[in-house]
Amino acid sequence: MSRVVEHYGRAKGSLAGGVSSSTRLNRALGHPLYLAKGEGCRVWDLDGREYYDLCCSHGATLLGHGDPRITAAVQQALAAGACCSYENEVQAELAELLCQTIPSFERVRFTGSGTEATMHTIRLARAFTGRTKLLKIEGNFHGYHDQVMYSIGAPADKLGSESAPNAWPASSGMTPGLDKELILVPYDRTDLLVEAIRKHGHELAAVICEPVFYNAGCIIPTKEFMQAMRDETRRAGVLLIYDEIQSAFRMAPGGAQEYFGITPDLSTVGKAVGGGYPLSVFGGRADVMQRLMPDGDCQHSGTYNGHPVIVAAALAALKIYRSPGFYEHIRQTAEHLYGGMNNIFAERGIPGKVRGLGARFGIYMGVEGEPHSYRDAVKHNRKLMLEFIAASIARGVYFHDYGGGACHHGFCAAMTPADVDAALGRIDEAVQTLKV
Ligand SMILES: Cc1ncc(COP(=O)(O)O)c(C=O)c1O
Repeated sequence: MSRVVEHYGRAKGSLAGGVSSSTRLNRALGHPLYLAKGEGCRVWDLDGREYYDLCCSHGATLLGHGDPRITAAVQQALAAGACCSYENEVQAELAELLCQTIPSFERVRFTGSGTEATMHTIRLARAFTGRTKLLKIEGNFHGYHDQVMYSIGAPADKLGSESAPNAWPASSGMTPGLDKELILVPYDRTDLLVEAIRKHGHELAAVICEPVFYNAGCIIPTKEFMQAMRDETRRAGVLLIYDEIQSAFRMAPGGAQEYFGITPDLSTVGKAVGGGYPLSVFGGRADVMQRLMPDGDCQHSGTYNGHPVIVAAALAALKIYRSPGFYEHIRQTAEHLYGGMNNIFAERGIPGKVRGLGARFGIYMGVEGEPHSYRDAVKHNRKLMLEFIAASIARGVYFHDYGGGACHHGFCAAMTPADVDAALGRIDEAVQTLKV
C-alpha cells in the first residue's frame, strides 16, 4: 500500500476526515495529497512521487514553495523572538507598502484568513452605513462565515431563476434567517445588477464581489458590469467591496482593481499577500477605516493579527511582486501554459478549454461557449474533469478538485519555460488516456 493511502487511514483516526480543511480532499484521487516536501514549482508526496504543482496552495504560494527570500525574512523575524500580539516596526512598513500598491488602500488592518477579512469588512460596512443588507454575486465565494456561505457550490438544479436566484446554504448548521440580509445577482448581468441596486440601495450596506471570478475557474467580467457596479453603488451611497483574496497580485501588483482601473471603497486581499504564510488584509477609504476601534466604534481585533513572522514574509513577498519584470514573467508563463493546454485539448479532441488571467486559471470541460457566470461554470462535464485530474496526477501534474463546478488552478513564478514544457508533456500523456 502506498504511504499516502496508509497515512490517510492513520490521519482519519484523529483528524476529522483526515484533513485540517474540508476542501483538501481531492475527489479525483479519493484522498488528500499528503506531502513530504516542496521546492519551487514542484512537490513530492509521502511516496516520493514528484508533481508539478498547479494548485499552488490554493493560490497562496505565488512564489512557489520555500522561496529562499521569504525563508530568510522569516528566519530573521524568528531570530528577533517573534514577539506576537505586540506592535513592532514591520507592521506599519508593510501597511505603507500595501497602501502604495493596492489602489483602494488608504488604511489597512491585518487578519489571519480571508474568511476573517471579509467578515470584518462586512461588519465595518454595516457600521459605516447604518444599513444591514448585502448584495452578493451568485456563486462568488467570500469565505466560510455564515453571512456569505450562500449560493456557492450550489447544484445546477437548485439555482432558481436568474432574476431571483435561490440563497442556497452551502453548509448545515448556519444561523437561520441570514439569507434575508442578502440580495443575489448573477455575475456579469449588468441589467439585473443595476435593477437590484436601484431597488435595494437604501437598505444595502455594501455590494461585495470577486472582481475576477476565480472561484468559478476564471471568469473575467465585462468592463461595463464593473463600471455599472461602481457608478450605481456610489450613487446609492452603498460601499463597494472587492474581495481580492484570490485575485490580489495575480495579474498586477494592484490586483484586479489595477487591471480594471476601478477603485472600490474597501477591499480584502489574501493568499499571495503572505508569500505562503497565513495573512489576509482588509482596507480602503480612510474615512471608513476610521470607524474601527480604537478610533471608532467597530471592533476588529485578534491575538495573532499582524504576527511579526507572517508580516516579515509578506513584506518580502510584496517587494518581489513590485520588482521589475515580475508580471512580465507571469504573463509569458500564462501564455505558454494556457496556450499549450488549449492546443493539447484541441489536438486530442477533448472538449476542454483553459481560461486564465495572470497566474490563475480555470479548465472548462464540456462547457459550450464562453462562461460568464456560475450558472455556466456549473454545467461542466464533471466526470471528464475528474478523469482528467486523476490522469494528470498519475503522470506527475497536480491539479486540485474542490468539488462542484469548474474551479481554479494556478502556477507559481518559480516555473521556468522548461518546467512548463515538461508539465505540458505530462498533461498531453494524461489527456491521451481520456475516453470522450
Ligand atoms: C475570493 C475568496 N474570498 C475569501 C476566501 C476565504 O479565504 P480563506 O480560505 O483564507 O479563509 C477565499 C478562499 O479561497 C477566496 O477565494
